Amino acid sequence: MLTLILAESSIERIPKAIVNDPSVISDAKRRRKNPEQLILDRSYHHKAINRLSNPEKRGRPDIIHITLLNCLGSPLNVTGRLTTYVHTIEDLIIEVSSRTRIPRNSERFKGILEQLFESHRVPTTGKPLLQLRKSSLKELIRKVSPSYVGALTTQGNYENLTNLGHIIVNQKKPVLIIGGFSKGHFTKETLKLADQTISIFPKGLESWTVASKVIFTYEQALEFNDICNSNP
Ligand SMILES: C[S@@+](CC[C@H](N)C(=O)[O-])C[C@H]1O[C@@H](n2cnc3c(N)ncnc32)[C@H](O)[C@@H]1O
Repeated sequence: MLTLILAESSIERIPKAIVNDPSVISDAKRRRKNPEQLILDRSYHHKAINRLSNPEKRGRPDIIHITLLNCLGSPLNVTGRLTTYVHTIEDLIIEVSSRTRIPRNSERFKGILEQLFESHRVPTTGKPLLQLRKSSLKELIRKVSPSYVGALTTQGNYENLTNLGHIIVNQKKPVLIIGGFSKGHFTKETLKLADQTISIFPKGLESWTVASKVIFTYEQALEFNDICNSNP
């Protein structure tokens, strides 16, 4: 069983500081919502985001959208061997049920997020597929209680994927952390939570590419282990 955490992810509602920005007002009109209910999105609120602190880590719900589509559609998830969490830059955690079917359309995905930030769960009745709660990454990791935590970053030590597969498949409860942002690096607090920092390629890759690669690596390592275990 592998747990993936998309950490410091660029998902939040419109911050108060830019709620009256013309780009926000016109987006709210277009979407027939109150400005405070909208999910911050660089595609629509670019200039306003650049006035915020830490702008490179803000307003990229598309990263989580594409990464979740990859995670939830993977054979590992479909066979019930992947757990996915999204941790946001505001220390919120989205618990993602492996049964969740994420809309393919990015505007519809944002609509789901807006509903989640409003009700803290989607759907609002019955078994939740997405749940939102306040928690730091440290608290989440304590709750998951992993046997190993690897943080994927270009600043880590290079590990080829076969070795990485070998490391995680031999762990009882491995957790891998991938950044859910487009630029910049993990904070010191996040790095402190990892047993190992790992680079899988000499250049920066997109979060969804890294997620797909580590999931496939784990799937392959599991198959190899299954073969070894069935031929003693
Ligand atoms: C778009 S990158 C963020 C940019 C950051 N400067 C970087 O290169 O790590 C999003 C995330 O993908 C993962 N990532 C990207 N390239 C990687 C690599 N070569 N090795 C390991 N992880 C990588 C990291 O978790 C990173 O936080």
